Amino acid sequence: MQNPHPTSRRARRAGPLKGRATIPGDKSISQRAIILGGLAEGETRISGLLESGDVQSTAGAVRALGASVTREGPGAWRVAGAPWMSPHQPLDFGNSGTGSRLVMGAVAGQGISATFIGDASLISRPMARVLDPLKAFGATYEGQGPKALMPVTVHGAKGTKAADVVVTTASAQVKSALLLAALGAEGVSHIRQATLTRDHSEKMLAGFGAKISVTPEGSGQVIAIEGPVKLKACAVEVPRDPSSAAFPLVAALIVPGSEIELPNIMLNPRRTGLIETLLEMGARIEIVNRRVTGGEEIGDLVVRHSQLRGIEVPASRAPSMIDEYPILSVAAAFATGTTALRGLEELRVKESDRLEAVARGLKLNGVPHTIESDDLLVQGMGQDGVPGGGMVPTHMDHRIAMSFLTMGMASQLPVTVDDVTMIATSFPEYEGLMRDLGAVLE
Ligand code: S3P
Repeated sequence: MQNPHPTSRRARRAGPLKGRATIPGDKSISQRAIILGGLAEGETRISGLLESGDVQSTAGAVRALGASVTREGPGAWRVAGAPWMSPHQPLDFGNSGTGSRLVMGAVAGQGISATFIGDASLISRPMARVLDPLKAFGATYEGQGPKALMPVTVHGAKGTKAADVVVTTASAQVKSALLLAALGAEGVSHIRQATLTRDHSEKMLAGFGAKISVTPEGSGQVIAIEGPVKLKACAVEVPRDPSSAAFPLVAALIVPGSEIELPNIMLNPRRTGLIETLLEMGARIEIVNRRVTGGEEIGDLVVRHSQLRGIEVPASRAPSMIDEYPILSVAAAFATGTTALRGLEELRVKESDRLEAVARGLKLNGVPHTIESDDLLVQGMGQDGVPGGGMVPTHMDHRIAMSFLTMGMASQLPVTVDDVTMIATSFPEYEGLMRDLGAVLE
């Protein structure tokens, strides 16, 4: 019989997961490589690029701004930078918060104007968090309402002066937008951030020849960046995405008898909060062959089925695992005891309100939990105790879809998610890869 809902998917228990899986390139680094390549003089060659919906949206926008972005083979892309010009049409970023927010910063820095649009998820996400700080570099904008929802038009200013900006949101996107804006301002700008977030922009800007230095300050850092600068093209080798690896990783931990290998995963310390947390929960994750490639630490993960136990996950760890809370909540459901996930306010402004979406998914599958302010407490039901049987609304959120499919791989009854199309925004290979490991998705 044909599936009456072709975009829904049901995951059910099957045998152990076994084998070696090739995770695609990191989304954050892929996005930045296209944007910086588009701004730079010369030809940027990228290998291992993530070829997902979000990255395609950014590539389309960077083309519309004047650069040439071409695919030369699987994961092999060439970006020929050019002076950016105000595009005639709105830039459509689809589902991509990162692409749109970083390009807003770059548009401000280039002193041009552009209109930004996106899908139903993206147009409900706040852009004021990026646009208000960009005023320090002379940018103005028009958006919808106090949160500056899309459609948003950004007007960069020419000949702006360097600025000192304090980033109050624990967001790498906001920091990165400011750094890209500072590229066009005259003098040394200082971007201060009280919380350390992923540092791919700082590292890659240095690789593209920006004059940038980072100094620790309290629990955060201050970045000094000098403008105006013309970036120089360089080669970018994209490491594999730890946020995508998280899904097969947790699946192997909760499906009895599993043992899988995930080679060449990026282990940048600002991205490894999930692994750290799972190890504290008793996960059998071995990291072998640690090395540095293209400026990033990488390693091979060997993951075995494990009996997990509930722990306290401090709010201070949130930036290093911000995209991993949905899948961590699933791991917590299969643990013994309660797992307390603290300080999740940023989850409310992701592709969906992830705190609500996770709570709903847990409820629909019989997992007791409570939300206390911005904390989520998941009452673990043990490795065989998660009832499942729910139909989970994913709210156009790829990570909600993959998280609850993972739950269904080990719960008593199958778990259905209403829509898997959004998975292609970050991990188009997900279903095939999971089936190759032995998962049943129907
Ligand atoms: C990203 C930063 C994070 C993360 C997003 C990617 C980036 O967002 O959730 O998926 O590439 O800079 P915030 O910086 O808003 O927390």
